Amino acid sequence: MTKKKILITGGAGFIGSHVVRLFVNKYPDYSVVNLDKLTYAGNLLNLKDVEGKSNYTFVKGDITDAAFITELFSEHKFDAVIHLAAESHVDRSISNPLEFVMTNVIGTVNLLNAAKSEWKDSLSTRRFYHVSTDEVYGALGDTGMFTEETKYDPHSPYSASKASSDHFVRAYHDTYGLDIVISNCSNNYGSHHFPEKLIPLAIHNIKSNKPVPVYGKGENIRDWLFVEDHAKAIDIVFHNSKSGDTYNIGGHNEWKNIDVINLLCKIMDKKLGRKEGESAKLITFVKDRAGHDLRYAIDSSKLQNNLGWTPSLQFEEGLERTVDWYLSNEDWLQNVTSGDYKKYYEEQYVKR
Ligand code: NAD
Ligand code: DAU
Repeated sequence: MTKKKILITGGAGFIGSHVVRLFVNKYPDYSVVNLDKLTYAGNLLNLKDVEGKSNYTFVKGDITDAAFITELFSEHKFDAVIHLAAESHVDRSISNPLEFVMTNVIGTVNLLNAAKSEWKDSLSTRRFYHVSTDEVYGALGDTGMFTEETKYDPHSPYSASKASSDHFVRAYHDTYGLDIVISNCSNNYGSHHFPEKLIPLAIHNIKSNKPVPVYGKGENIRDWLFVEDHAKAIDIVFHNSKSGDTYNIGGHNEWKNIDVINLLCKIMDKKLGRKEGESAKLITFVKDRAGHDLRYAIDSSKLQNNLGWTPSLQFEEGLERTVDWYLSNEDWLQNVTSGDYKKYYEEQYVKR
């Protein structure tokens, strides 16, 4: 394996921390630099197990700061970038769209500009991997799946900002010849997931005997993938895809929100020694999300057929593992749900 110096952005977040862990452990000859602003969603506790490794460095910094990013590229001479840093929560994008434009669009363009200028003599041999989402494709009705050919049709400020960043990444390939690859993944779940998102929020609330908020009638459908399977897919796509290519990543695992919550309640009853049906009493239907996409479903056959990736876990098993992680990492949960989280929760769920 050749030595590589890789910049991973957003490595202190949920998916980023799994990607950093995988690369640091699997590729001892690579040097991994994790750049993260440590927003409310970024947490160095997520990477405690790798922080002492000699092939890992953490840099605190903001991708919206162009001068800083230029300096970072010039100092480190990266061979490749895996870009995950983003504002990632749809509900927050509804209350503060501009923050999503700044980080997801401007931040991405700053990274592209730094790569373009620092790599000017090797644009086609250093890779810029952009991690994106299935939400750029919009919403499905009762049938069909998103393929790599599906037209972009984003609805939320979050998905609009991710779609915009995807377009910029492709534009730098088409215009300047930068080696890029993009993957669009469905909903992830697993350990270290910030408890503003459905699954960790529900686990936290069930455990604390608090109402479990389900938007609308809980009929919306998401396609859930275990986060470690996403990290493995990123590894495979990063190393094997052609320049300019796009891959969809998903678990062929569609669930209505209400069914996910009922399953979680069942698992939690068992784990907490509660009577069956006890946790489900906490389910509370609340006002729907504005512009709520009805259904996502990913066709990942290109990735499975071309690069041989397959998801490793059944949802029930993955959810049980996830619940076990949250129940045995009380300190982590305590740490991330103090301070600003309480204010966010109040505004999102109590006042509306
Ligand atoms: P997350 O919110 O858990 O983590 C985002 C990370 O980015 C945090 O560590 C945060 O501190 C960092 N960050 C935010 N703004 C920054 C800035 N200006 N400069 C530097 N760092 C900054 O997000 P996640 O769920 O891990 O998602 C990671 C990526 O994967 C995102 O690009 C997201 O769009 C994409 N994605 C997420 C999912 C999912 O289900 N969570 C699915 C598909 C794609
Ligand atoms: O599809 C990929 C996307 O998945 C990623 O790009 C996003 O970064 C990630 O946040 C996720 O977006 P969703 O909006 O699908 O995830 P969230 O966990 O916020 O919501 C999942 C579903 O559950 C959605 O239909 C809204 C609903 N929901 C969510 C919350 C937070 C509820 O019913 N109640 C809630 O309290």
